[in-house]
Amino acid sequence: MDHFQHRSGRLHAEDVDVAAIAKQVGTPTFIYSAATLTAHYQRFREAFAPIDPLICFAVKSNANLSVLRLLGDLGSGMDVVSGGELHRALEAGIPAARCVYAGVGKTAPEIEAALRAGIGSINVESEQELETIATVARHLDRVAPVSIRINPNVDPHTHRHTTTGTRETKFGIDAERVPDVFASVRDDPAVAVTGLHVHLGSPIYETGPFVAGLTRMLELAERVEHDGGTIDRLDIGGGFAADYETGRAPDAATYAKAICPLLADRVRRGTKVILEPGRAIAANAGILLLEVVVRKTSGRKTFLVCDGGMNALLRPSHYDAFHFAWPTTVPPSLVPTIRTERPELDGLEVVDLVGPICETGDFLARDRSFPPCDRGDLIAIFATGAYGMTMASRYNAMPLPAEVMVDGSDFRVVRRRETVEDLLTHER
Ligand code: LLP
Repeated sequence: MDHFQHRSGRLHAEDVDVAAIAKQVGTPTFIYSAATLTAHYQRFREAFAPIDPLICFAVKSNANLSVLRLLGDLGSGMDVVSGGELHRALEAGIPAARCVYAGVGKTAPEIEAALRAGIGSINVESEQELETIATVARHLDRVAPVSIRINPNVDPHTHRHTTTGTRETKFGIDAERVPDVFASVRDDPAVAVTGLHVHLGSPIYETGPFVAGLTRMLELAERVEHDGGTIDRLDIGGGFAADYETGRAPDAATYAKAICPLLADRVRRGTKVILEPGRAIAANAGILLLEVVVRKTSGRKTFLVCDGGMNALLRPSHYDAFHFAWPTTVPPSLVPTIRTERPELDGLEVVDLVGPICETGDFLARDRSFPPCDRGDLIAIFATGAYGMTMASRYNAMPLPAEVMVDGSDFRVVRRRETVEDLLTHER
């Protein structure tokens, strides 16, 4: 579900005609829908209400301050993976106590900043990192709240680049070693290791891997408590899928139905559950608006060259990810009813949507059934509110896109478009 729909053949973001945004702000521009962000957050809240989790939005999926502030105002915490992301979360007014901090390569200065801010939990990914945390905490005369991120060796059946919970990835600590890690710090007053964390990968289109990872985590919690430790937090990570293609992703209720029963007993006994969804909240809450700069043919191929490509949206070229794309203005007969690679509509042609970057790997969609389009037309790339702007680059000296937040019939620029002068600001 989202609030990006064609009305009388013209794409609207909530009640705003996106052509009006293009006219005022230009392209490429990411457009976010406040109502969609809110609805997706609330849906997680409601679905998981039986276990009353703290929802920590994954900042890596969309780090715009206005997005973070909107979710923070709804009660969301934040999942951060760097000092930079924590800084953004704090700047957006999120209490540090509602932030959890994962990441395999946290530096001592980053750990120090997190402890000084009063971070809710540092999710530790190695024995050496735990030593660093203890050293920094001792130096600050603080007690570091720590959860151990376990590597449960569960395959989430997703892209290999975003698989994190299998044995030979760099994430977490092998589940078998976790009891020893707890034992090693039991008498260290600088660290309070009282939580477990798991994140298997993303997106995960089935509930099975969540159940498997969680089961492993619950076994470990029992084991640690049996050995005399305490577990008061279980962080089950993110990885919930988004609607890239209509109907493929399970909804929040489906995930909750599989997950909540496993946790109910512990929650009754006082354990706090944490979820870290990013994509499921933000992806469908954003589109990327582009203009066609050139239409050309090469051999049998037709290319629509847009004013943004892998620099604005890396996911197609990096993961071969599918993003539905459609012109913003179409005749009523070509209004799409579902988002899929081959919509069954008359009058489509097959095109490649590509960007301006000097690489053949710079594409947004290949061999896509698409309404006839030409130079000057506007195109929307859907489900780009997550891992769009956060992964955008300035490759080929392309300034970063603008970001706009729509709320009902209003919109505002929440990050201005970069200029070519901006690109020089850090150089001497
Ligand atoms: N928690 C942890 C520890 C994570 O590493 C991630 C994502 C999340 C939560 C949020 O996952 P989500 O709910 O958004 O699926 N750039 C890739 C995705 C990489 C995800 C990395 N970690 C993409 O564009 O698909």
